Amino acid sequence: MTSLAVHADQPVEGVPLVLLHAFPLDSSMWSPVLPALRGIPVVTIDAPGFGDAPPREHAGLEEYAHDVVVAVRELGHDQAVIAGLSMGGYIAMAVAEATPGVLAGIGLLSTKAAADAEPAREKRLAMAAAADRGEPDLAVPMLDGLLGETSRDRRPDLVDDVRERLRTAPAAGIAWAQRSMAARPDRLAALSALPEGVPALVLRGAQDALMSDGDASAMAAALGAEVVEIADAGHLAALEAPDAVAAALSDLYRRAIG
Ligand code: MLT
Repeated sequence: MTSLAVHADQPVEGVPLVLLHAFPLDSSMWSPVLPALRGIPVVTIDAPGFGDAPPREHAGLEEYAHDVVVAVRELGHDQAVIAGLSMGGYIAMAVAEATPGVLAGIGLLSTKAAADAEPAREKRLAMAAAADRGEPDLAVPMLDGLLGETSRDRRPDLVDDVRERLRTAPAAGIAWAQRSMAARPDRLAALSALPEGVPALVLRGAQDALMSDGDASAMAAALGAEVVEIADAGHLAALEAPDAVAAALSDLYRRAIG
């Protein structure tokens, strides 16, 4: 049994669309996207230490990716369309590397295949150590980087919502995720090695301050896909432009499943 928290609003009949959330949020970040995905068997999953999922001692995106595959099998399916935003995308790429046959399609939103440079890795490990010490409000300074300028200027409710998500982000989840992300390798080769014909989506908010145009283009080139760019959205495109993200996910699902 997987120890992840797996959420589905309906019996999962048909190949699932699995949605994996960003750091340091939880599966509820997909809520604004779900109404426009009605009719598709969507499954959302909380990463270890976030939402309803128990924390883990041992860092490792690969173990989490393995458990996502186990969850798909426990739902009675050999394959799924797996889409992740940012940290969720790192997981989808870890699945692509370890168990490519599970992927009926792959969606990479606001993410990158490259590993961290050393300064970024050190910053992550420092944040993990601060989380271990119980320092409060560690994730709140991420706010400006997570939302595009349009959201920051014009959507005070969304700014408040994301600030609250960051303020309440669980320390154990933060520590696990930062150590896990610090250790992740470059996975561009895993994308290039996917069997030809696996449908792919690469999506980026035009105002994303964390993932560059080059990051998205590199993944798209490896997958033989085009980048879908969402105007007026930043890193958290699923919260900032849920209808556009849902349309891109529906299109991916239709290409994968017909
Ligand atoms: C996320 O949104 O999941 C994070 O920005 C990912 C990261 O820290 O690399």
